[in-house]
Parts: sequence; structure tokens; C-alpha cells
Amino acid sequence: MWRGVSSIVLLTAVVGLAGCELPPDDALARELAASRGRSLGTAIEAYHTTGGPDTDLVAREFDVVTPENAMKWAVIHPQRDVYDFTDADTIVDFAETNGQRVRGHTLVWHSQNPSWLRADLGRAELLDILREHVTTLVGRYRGRVEAWDVVNEAIDDTGQLRNTVWLEGIGTDYIEWAFRFAREADPTARLFYNDYLIERGGPKADAVHALLADLRSRDVPVDGIGYQMHALVPALMPATKDIVTEFERFTALGLDIEITELDVAIILPSDESELLDQADAYARAAMACLSVDRCRTIVTWGFTDADSWIDAHFPGFGDGLLFDRNRQPKVAYLRWRLVFWWNLHLE
Ligand code: G3I
Repeated sequence: MWRGVSSIVLLTAVVGLAGCELPPDDALARELAASRGRSLGTAIEAYHTTGGPDTDLVAREFDVVTPENAMKWAVIHPQRDVYDFTDADTIVDFAETNGQRVRGHTLVWHSQNPSWLRADLGRAELLDILREHVTTLVGRYRGRVEAWDVVNEAIDDTGQLRNTVWLEGIGTDYIEWAFRFAREADPTARLFYNDYLIERGGPKADAVHALLADLRSRDVPVDGIGYQMHALVPALMPATKDIVTEFERFTALGLDIEITELDVAIILPSDESELLDQADAYARAAMACLSVDRCRTIVTWGFTDADSWIDAHFPGFGDGLLFDRNRQPKVAYLRWRLVFWWNLHLE
């Protein structure tokens, strides 16, 4: 309750400072963000593109889409010699029809891999497989997928290289090979390293920094870092200034920043005070992005609370997105409109 009241007091104070000017009622968050040079995006599945209210919402509210699962190995490359582009093509076509950019997700990961992909295939065979997969996907969508999450979550929660089929089967250089293959297949796509829980510093963020510094120093073509930012009310979203500190030590390496998978889960059932805290968390992420010139895109990991990975993977948690189960904008969405309208950022 008191957290909710303090949020309102803070908001009122900011309204006062800004001269009480509110954004026009019909201005979308994406339009206000665009006026600050920022793009808003969401993860989607192919079934979101086939018509109906979800399709309308995605087309109306977002500039960028990321296939949530459609480009992962188990879906797009289920057998050694079989690719299935059905869902990925559907999403890329939809994005083009609606003037949206696509973030490709993800070329190399430890999860959602098909069972035929095994470390005991050996280094030479696995490198061939990796080259073929990356070349096939990035080549197919050349000029159409603007940014790729090339390597996802290669560092574990203790700051060590994660033990994956790639590390075990190829060795540490699988990471640089993935980036090199991707650059070769589409020299115009921006190539990202993507990871979670790196927005608050600590050993994992340090290890990611060391990895990317090493890659950049050897001219491995990595252009940016994706901050997933799966957060939890009230604990897991750092203060804006702390996020900015992290962003800046990565932009100092010459990297672009994108927020790639933002959501802010709540223990269900959520109440009004928690939804206000959630709005604060969303605002912090947006203000951090506005504070750093090289942060230009914020993608949420889904759009309505009715359809989110959180419920399935963390039973008892949910309500983490910008729109409620009836597709109505939540206070987090309204707060974003104010943040972008007033351009709230750190000097
Ligand atoms: O496609 C199968 C379907 O055939 C089957 O009937 C069904 C039965 O459970 O499972 C379906 O696959 C599920 C898939 O999502 C598609 O819905 C998998 O079980 C399920 O594990 C998978 O979860 C995805 C998860 O990545 C996999 O680890 C989530 O939707 C997706 O949101 C999540 O996304 C990840 C990012 O890629 C990387 N960062 C973290 C983020 C959240 O975990």
C-alpha cells in the first residue's frame, strides 16, 4: 500500500515539475518513444499474426518483433537435414507487412536444441553443423532480419563459460565462429551477444564484459549486447543509475545496447501496489535506455499477461507485461508514455 502511495506522490511531483503537460490521449507509447529516437518491440509467436485482437495489438503498438521460439534450433532445424521455416517466415512476412524490424533469436544457445545435436559428434562435425545452420538462417533472412542474437547465455550464473553442447563439442572458440559465420552470411545485420541478469553488475556481468572485450580486441564481429532483463517485483530491477553504469561500461567497448526480453513478474494474484512497483521497474529500464545514446531499442518478452512464458515456467508468478489479460494497457504502459513524453533520463 505505502509503496503504491509513494509511487503516486513521486509521479505527482514529476507531473508538477514538468508543468502538468500530459501526452495527447491518443499518443501510443511507441510514438512517444519514437520521438526520442527509441523503438519498442515484443516477442511473438506465428499464431499472433493470423488475425484477431492480438494481431491488431502487435501491429499497432510495436516497431520491432522477435520470434519467441520460431527461430530456435528445435523448431527451425529439427533434424540434421531438415529445416522448417514455416513459423519464422510467417513472422518475418508479418513484420514486413507492418513496417516492423525483426530481431532474430537465437543462433547459438544451450536450450531448446534438438536431440540429434550432441557434443560427441566432435569438433569438426559440430563446426560444420554450426556453419551450415548460421549460414542457412542468416542467409535466408539477409537484409530482412536487422539484428541477430548470435550467442545467447554463454556465461553461467557464477561467471564461468556455461557447459553446453557447443563448449564441450567445439571448445571456447565456438562463440567467435558463430559471429564470424553470421557476419559472412549478412554483412549488414547487427550481431548481438544476449544474456540475463547482467544489468546489476557482479561476477556474471564482469565475465560477459571480459568475453566481449576479448572478442572486440580480436576483431570478432560483435556489434552489441542484449540485456534480457527478466525482472521480478519488487526485487530484481536495479536503480536507473546502476543500469546506466553497466550500459556505459559496455558502450565503452564500442557496443550497441538493446533491452531484448523485458518483463517484470509478480507473485500472483497481483495487487494494485505491486502493479505500481512494476510500473516503476518498467520506467527504470526505459529511463536507463533514454540515458544512453547507444541504447535505441526496448523489446518486451510478450505483450499480454494472458500469454507469457512466465506462467508455464514459474507457476505462481505472472502478470509481467504491459497489457492485461483483456489486452488493456496497464499502469506500466501508462508510465512508459510519461517517461517517453517527458524524456526522463539521467543527465
Ligand atoms: O513446441 C512444443 C510443443 O510442440 C509441445 O506440445 C509443448 C508441450 O509442452 O511444448 C512446446 O514447446 C515449448 C516452447 O516454449 C514453445 O511453446 C517448450 O516446452 C517450452 O519450454 C518453450 O519455452 C520457451 C523457453 O524460452 C525455452 O527455454 C519460452 O516459450 C520462451 O519464452 C523462452 O524464452 C527464453 C529466451 O529464448 C532466452 N532468454 C530467456 C527466455 C525465457 O526463458
